[in-house]
Amino acid sequence: MNKDYWNERYAAGQTGWDLGKASPPLEDYIKQLGNKDLKILLPGCGNGYEALLMAELGFTNLTVLDIAPLAVEKLQDRLQSYPSVRILCEDFFEHVDNYDLILEQTFFCALPPSMREQYVQKMAELLVPQGKLVGLLFATEFDKAGPPFGGTTEEYLQLFSPYFTDAILEPCRNSIRPRQGNELFVKWVKKDL
Ligand SMILES: C[S@@+](CC[C@H](N)C(=O)[O-])C[C@H]1O[C@@H](n2cnc3c(N)ncnc32)[C@H](O)[C@@H]1O
Repeated sequence: MNKDYWNERYAAGQTGWDLGKASPPLEDYIKQLGNKDLKILLPGCGNGYEALLMAELGFTNLTVLDIAPLAVEKLQDRLQSYPSVRILCEDFFEHVDNYDLILEQTFFCALPPSMREQYVQKMAELLVPQGKLVGLLFATEFDKAGPPFGGTTEEYLQLFSPYFTDAILEPCRNSIRPRQGNELFVKWVKKDL
């Protein structure tokens, strides 16, 4: 599941994860954020609907990143009225910077489970002390081979606890219909290590 894999999914239109709009639980979270100058990263952002929403709402310091050139080309079109949004075609694991907040939306579940520890370490590396990782994770394991790859609250707590604290993992009230009852809203604060 490298750059070519994801680019081919976009080329073939096999993008079943794509909601065509910002995910409602994330939209609610974004709309209640008071500080529009937070430095925010949206990794594995695909078509970047959350980024568009945030740009429209006046967030000033956004970076969106995806490994698939085709997704990034579309993002450049979609976000052309917002030149202040930084759009990167890059591997998340090679990205270097620091953020106050990182938003997760079907990126974690797209990675092979063998990369989960690396994901958590990289998230911690990219966040400032007390920075937040917020988003959505699937609430169950799936029978069929992924992606998406699911997981459980217990697994997530164990996985993130070396680097993150103040965990909130709660069932989403307003998931899209196919994900209802199967999605967790999660929020972690990076530990001062
Ligand atoms: C399941 S899609 C989700 C896209 C978007 N977040 C959404 O919800 O519509 C996973 C995305 O992660 C991107 N991706 C996968 N591995 C990546 C990596 N190592 N670095 C950056 N992006 C990656 C893929 O290109 C794809 O756009």
